[in-house]
Amino acid sequence: MAVKNLVRGNVFIDGAWILPLIQGGKGVGATNGRSAGAWARENTGGTIAGTGAAIGYDENGREISYPHIGRSRRERHEELVAWSIEGGILQAGIAYEASRGKGRIRMNFLKMAGGSMRIMRGVLEGTRLAGGGNMINAVTMGAGLPAEEDAQICADEGVYLDPIVSSAVALKVLLKRTFRNWPDRYSDVIGAVVYEDPWLAGGHNGITSREDPDKPEAPYDRVKELRRIMNENKMENVAIIMAGGVWYLRDWEHWLGNRDIGPIAFQFGTRDLLTRECPVTEEWKLLLLSMNEGDVALNQFSPTGFYSSAYKNSMIKELCQRSERQVPFGRKCDSSMSKPVEGCGVPNNSYCVTQQDKLKVDAWIAEGFNIPLRTPDNTLIFVTREAAREIKAYLTDCVGCLSTCKLSSWSQSSEQKYTTGKRPDPRFHCIRKRLVEAIQGRDLDKQLIFAGHNAYKAKSDPFYRDENGHVFIPTVKQLVERLMTGN
Ligand SMILES: Cc1cc2nc3c(=O)[nH]c(=O)nc-3n(C[C@H](O)[C@H](O)[C@H](O)COP(=O)(O)O)c2cc1C
Ligand code: SF4
Repeated sequence: MAVKNLVRGNVFIDGAWILPLIQGGKGVGATNGRSAGAWARENTGGTIAGTGAAIGYDENGREISYPHIGRSRRERHEELVAWSIEGGILQAGIAYEASRGKGRIRMNFLKMAGGSMRIMRGVLEGTRLAGGGNMINAVTMGAGLPAEEDAQICADEGVYLDPIVSSAVALKVLLKRTFRNWPDRYSDVIGAVVYEDPWLAGGHNGITSREDPDKPEAPYDRVKELRRIMNENKMENVAIIMAGGVWYLRDWEHWLGNRDIGPIAFQFGTRDLLTRECPVTEEWKLLLLSMNEGDVALNQFSPTGFYSSAYKNSMIKELCQRSERQVPFGRKCDSSMSKPVEGCGVPNNSYCVTQQDKLKVDAWIAEGFNIPLRTPDNTLIFVTREAAREIKAYLTDCVGCLSTCKLSSWSQSSEQKYTTGKRPDPRFHCIRKRLVEAIQGRDLDKQLIFAGHNAYKAKSDPFYRDENGHVFIPTVKQLVERLMTGN
């Protein structure tokens, strides 16, 4: 008997009528040309990660790291920009071939990524088609809002720029600022607006001071408000892409054909990881299939300064504990900071803490957390010798992968002499190292495993078991067919 589809119509996105299903872009390398091309070929939207795109693969099919040789951060940053452009062009070509002219090919950039504007410009120049047009139909930009110049670069290349927002307020700001050259005709440049739910989506999250990270708000009301603002700005026909927490489309059925919501499509970030074309390792896929509710949580350890949602493995737990082993200090003992920190390899009287904190500090030192590291907030954290060595290596190996980095104090701005001017902050992780090593298949307990808050649904989803109860990982084609049914 033929299965009845819940999804019947197409939606107009990035200049074409496609199925309302979109692959969530995932850096570093968790979506690529092959996986995005497979989505596009099913007449959906495929999204290549434009951050750290692979320049090639080894004999096992694993992506090769960028072979940095530069001696300074600045030199390595320049190498990173050049290789990111090369990788982006390579992956776009692979997606373009694989799509066979169907669907839409999108590329995701992180606004906070080092040299993001130069990389985007370089990739879009390198993916122009001989007969006009571009292999890439749209750019999406997360972790920061696109600048006016980003919009102009896309417009010049005939490529849509689809903003990723987490609230109606953010879109209002964007329309006034980034897209101010297109008043009343925003749909010339915006092919869709991605609403990324700050409490549900995997990866970086747009929680601002207006939102409470512990008080999730219903996506329906927030998207309804987003649609209201879009309608006020003559964007009635521009689709919204709902991203974050979308697992079974049957749970979102009331959004389809709903006047409050308007044209709508759904983005799959975490579910896409469970496809054969997805480049993450088998271990990563199995890890996803073992997660329980609550295993994924918001944290504030990204050196971008944004909240992000990741699997709470040993790496995240260690960062939580590191921040807990934290006390204010003084450089000289006085009436409030009256007790010197002793027994930790720094000369006595280098750091003084309160009498109350001294008890905690002594206990940490006794447990082996005997290296005090200063933070920019005039506090000390206490780590093991091994952790201190690792943090030092992050700073030494830094390639300037972000526009500004809280961990290393790197800034891409020459005017600021390539530094944020702040002290390196050992409470953050090196996002590049942890994401690159995750995609290379190193010990996943120590890497950054971004995931959406509904990842736990994988475990009980019957789709991922065959008739013998063995794990089944579908192709993108099989996943799309399944999603269409609402399951
Ligand atoms: C492993 C992983 C990496 C991600 N990387 C990015 C990224 O580089 N840029 C971005 O805009 N969004 C990124 N996202 C967010 C996804 O594109 C998508 O919007 C989000 O995962 C949707 O929520 P879901 O995970 O509940 O499906 C990432 C998500 C995951 C799970
Ligand atoms: S320390 Fe790591 S995360 Fe920060 S800019 Fe350097 S490479 Fe990127």
